[in-house]
Amino acid sequence: MLLSLHQTRVTFLPLLLLFWRSSDGMPDPAQRELLIHQEESRLTGGQVTLREEAEKKLDAHLHHLKEKEISAPQFLPSMHFFKAKPFIQKSPVFKLLQKMPKGAALHIHSSALVSVEWLVKNVTYRPHCHICFTWDNNVRFLFSDSQPFPRWDCFYWQLLETLRSRLEDPTEFDNSLMKHLSVFTEDPDHEYPNQDAVWEKFEKSFIAAAGLITHAPVLRDYYYRGLEELHQDNIMYLELRSGVSKTYEMDGTIHDRVWTLKTFQEVTKKFTADHPDFLGARMIISAHRALGVNEVKDVVKEAVELHKTFPDVVAGFDMVGREDSGRTLWFYRDALSLPEELGSTLPFYFHAGETDNEGTDVDQNILDALLFNTKRIGHGFALAHHPLAKELSRRKDVPVELCPISNQVLKLVSDLRNHPAAVLMSEGHPLVISSDDPSLFGTTGLSYDFYQAFVGIGGLKANLGTLKELALNSIKYSSLPAQLKEKGRLLWQSKWETFVAEQS
Ligand SMILES: *[C@@H]1O[C@H](CO)[C@@H](O)[C@H](O)[C@H]1NC(C)=O
Ligand SMILES: [Zn+2]
Repeated sequence: MLLSLHQTRVTFLPLLLLFWRSSDGMPDPAQRELLIHQEESRLTGGQVTLREEAEKKLDAHLHHLKEKEISAPQFLPSMHFFKAKPFIQKSPVFKLLQKMPKGAALHIHSSALVSVEWLVKNVTYRPHCHICFTWDNNVRFLFSDSQPFPRWDCFYWQLLETLRSRLEDPTEFDNSLMKHLSVFTEDPDHEYPNQDAVWEKFEKSFIAAAGLITHAPVLRDYYYRGLEELHQDNIMYLELRSGVSKTYEMDGTIHDRVWTLKTFQEVTKKFTADHPDFLGARMIISAHRALGVNEVKDVVKEAVELHKTFPDVVAGFDMVGREDSGRTLWFYRDALSLPEELGSTLPFYFHAGETDNEGTDVDQNILDALLFNTKRIGHGFALAHHPLAKELSRRKDVPVELCPISNQVLKLVSDLRNHPAAVLMSEGHPLVISSDDPSLFGTTGLSYDFYQAFVGIGGLKANLGTLKELALNSIKYSSLPAQLKEKGRLLWQSKWETFVAEQS
């Protein structure tokens, strides 16, 4: 039996259709109203009843603000985010969303967690930071207390402090560094004519940031700062995809992955102690789709061990990197069946269906993710084109992690009104909103992505109930154990009530 919830709704239809037309051929207005209501009730949040007067008032206010944005000459979710960003920042809907308690961020990658502004203005100003420009005009950073020897396509390392002291305009130089560390540009259409071009820049930015982030003392501050940026955006919990890189000290000492996990655990503990209204953070260990099967087997085995040793930190496992140019989940099937063979309960949180190449092997990732019992689907951009996978996802209550800005910047969709998740949202498919790679896209927190989902993808019909359900979903579909979910829900509820009260 599929979708029992919907079946009960669907059984009303034939009855209604009997009354479809009155004798004069005019549809019955009362029946028409009823059908409209029934359709609306299927929307994400369509079953949420707004209880208090204050909630109803806020809902009406939001609707009014949205109407204004939709009738404005420039509809922001239809523009490229890089151009729309300054206008979104001025939007009253956006400002409300910033204040709203949004629950959890469930799909963010560790190398893109913290704003590039902080990386450049704080991290690259620390002593002993060296820079090198590669032949193809990329940058590498390295902390070293002596002159670094050539590595990573780099022959000529300069101490940043010395370099900056010779520059006329260090601010301009810093801005150029920020461009190296993100895909942000004023002219995205020209600079990124196709998906290949933007992915190339995307991967270069990751490599550029690596030398900064994998410096052990920086990583500690980086995690803390990352949680701070989320907390400031009224987010209370994080699940971070991470390759759990090794880290290095100034003298060349290398720390292993266990050190990285422990550091993440310690920083999270410190942050929650400093911010009692923050619930915590966990990691989804990820391997890159460029690896061979045996390499992935090793990562999976290690993840199984780490999941056993750090059950409160390690949430699960994922495969990351561009799906279209990487290997498929099915290619890795021997590696991905290892946890069960080893008697482990390591859950999967697979990226799947981040593609518009329908019918390719990559396009099957979405079904395979479900067959491997993924707990959530990262992106699931292709899900609307897979009716069976969509049914399975709904029946198994496996939500899609919708990252609207990522999909637009990486050129799967340009006008967000045309995002396939508009279908999922209008039929109440399980969904959470996330930001994927905030630093690379020039966002922080989730408010920008909530804005695009709420105004662009959801349209005028998405309402306060939609926002409520999306926020609650992020706790419900997190990897947290039941009692922590309940704690999170209660914490969120009290924040929500304060938020609603403050708006009236
Ligand atoms: C850089 O960040 C660290 C840790 O977050 C902070 O203690 C320090 O004051 C910052 N330095 C500057 C120059 O902003
Ligand atoms: Zn991702």
